[in-house]
Amino acid sequence: MSEFPAEWLDAWSVEDGSQAATTLFADVFGEQPDGVWSAPGRGNLIGEHTDYNGGFVLPFALPHRTYVALRRRDDGRVRLSSAQEPTPWEGTLADVVPGGVAGWPAYVVGVAWALREAGYDVGGFDAAVTSCVPYGAGLSSSAALEASVAVALDAVHGLGLAGPVDAVSDAGRKVLAAACIRAENEMAGAPTGGMDQAASLRAQAGHALLLDCVSLDVRHIPFDLAADDLALLVIDTRAEHQLVDGQYAARRDTCETAARVLGVGTLREVTDLDAALATLAAPGALDGTGQDPAVVARRVRHVVTEIERVREVVDLLDSGRTTAVGPVLTAAHESLRDDYEVSCHELDVAVDSAVQAGALGGRMIGGGFGGSAIALVHASEVEQVAGDVAAAFASEGLRAPGFLVAVAAAPAG
Ligand code: GLA
Repeated sequence: MSEFPAEWLDAWSVEDGSQAATTLFADVFGEQPDGVWSAPGRGNLIGEHTDYNGGFVLPFALPHRTYVALRRRDDGRVRLSSAQEPTPWEGTLADVVPGGVAGWPAYVVGVAWALREAGYDVGGFDAAVTSCVPYGAGLSSSAALEASVAVALDAVHGLGLAGPVDAVSDAGRKVLAAACIRAENEMAGAPTGGMDQAASLRAQAGHALLLDCVSLDVRHIPFDLAADDLALLVIDTRAEHQLVDGQYAARRDTCETAARVLGVGTLREVTDLDAALATLAAPGALDGTGQDPAVVARRVRHVVTEIERVREVVDLLDSGRTTAVGPVLTAAHESLRDDYEVSCHELDVAVDSAVQAGALGGRMIGGGFGGSAIALVHASEVEQVAGDVAAAFASEGLRAPGFLVAVAAAPAG
């Protein structure tokens, strides 16, 4: 049993989060908000770098949420303040254009901009934001911010999209998710794939969200690990990752090039991996694309096998064989590390030390190059595995990681 202390990143209660946002709003704007809305960060059980390849993903909502206290304005002005960011923002919605807003405000005004672009009558607002979603941890603090603003604007401008918390409108939430994705892609300039926004807006408590990234259809899969005496440990490596940098875009570009060469819309359509790899390896197949054939082959192999692993995990959950999910997670990590090459030393230490400490399996989650890993563990061993992982980080001379136990929580509302 490890004696090493693990630092736990606890979620706020909804009451505390709402209170904090309201207090911030009153301090900054000198009045009361119309209300407080919140949205979760996400975990992802399986399906990494498959969303922008038209594949499947199986994320879920975390109990860690971003809270926005918001008040409607009728003059088209927007004023923003955040407890986690030093710089406030102020501007006029009609002047907002892609590329025109930098930093965290882009995720907020981007949602209003995208809803207006989609034809919704969204006007100005004042907003105060605070969050307990670990920042830069690959747990989608950006999607939590977008989704909280989306449901807030939906409510104060009467769009009628999200539906009441106890009877959500999935069709309306699909529209809100699309606006959040545009905000992130076009306003913030991060070419992400849409899994995070779907998880934050369309997941259900107690369930993982199986999302078909082509049709955008969802299925809610019961995901209650405690019932099987299991737990999902999230390890925030505290190695900083950055989605706006070139690596994520480069992976996406390689996949899109491969799909083009293979004559398919997305890599989801590859049904025979060996045949696809043979086509890509043919002399001249990738000429003029600037892509290295060996690298392309590895990227395609990851995507195709990862989509298969999503199907496998769904089958395991559907048939109650939850412990067998562990090795599939570890296989996914190896594929992300060796074929997709998006892991890093901290993530490898997290996964290896968790498995060595008795986890049934584990993998990096999110975009990679830092951020978080997950480990499927026996519920009685959570503390011990976390302690062993923290000890491994210390002996490698790495920054102390943070931990949380992921439970599938409620969506934005
Ligand atoms: C980030 C992106 C998602 C997804 C993952 C990798 O979290 O925001 O759209 O592509 O990386 O699976």
